[in-house]
Amino acid sequence: KKIAIFASGNGSNFQALVEGIKQQQVAAQVVLLVCDQPQAYVLQRAQQLAIPVWTAAFNQFSDKAAFETAILSELQQRGVELILLAGYMRIIGPTLLQAYPQRLINIHPALLPNFPGRHGIEDAFAAGVTETGVTIHYVDAGIDSGPIIAQQTVPIKPSDDLASLSQRIHQTEHRLYLASLVKLLANQ
Ligand code: GRF
Repeated sequence: KKIAIFASGNGSNFQALVEGIKQQQVAAQVVLLVCDQPQAYVLQRAQQLAIPVWTAAFNQFSDKAAFETAILSELQQRGVELILLAGYMRIIGPTLLQAYPQRLINIHPALLPNFPGRHGIEDAFAAGVTETGVTIHYVDAGIDSGPIIAQQTVPIKPSDDLASLSQRIHQTEHRLYLASLVKLLANQ
């Protein structure tokens, strides 16, 4: 399976997926990073890992359809079959949803349907719950609302601050995203 990863920022999940896929020797290959933030750190990671990149600022396009049409043409040229969102901070529009039905997956740093949106870790921490977690799910037209593929809980300890909790969440994310992908590929 040829995979594209979409990311907007740091890219720790991107790196974990690229390295994990190589180590696991699964029948998959990350053939492209799509990044909507031309200054993002994930671009440096892609360069170090020798992963091809498509990057452009959203405001260079007239609207979401034009932006996604440009991405889609790159995906099709590279034969991409599966899209993994990993910290991609844009809602996927109809152009990509229709081109990749059931082939668009996202990771969210909370136990959906709890704490959707941009601040899943912070919102769970602020709510004072004793556990939160990580969700892998199919993407639909909503925000963090598609069918759930896998979830893993992460405890919030009384001694935690936001930094220690974030670190635990990210470690869990890196493992769960790879494990979910491996399972998914095995079932196809
Ligand atoms: C992750 O917490 C992911 O769940 C969320 O954005 C964050 C991206 O982190 N959607 P990174 O860029 O992969 O380090």
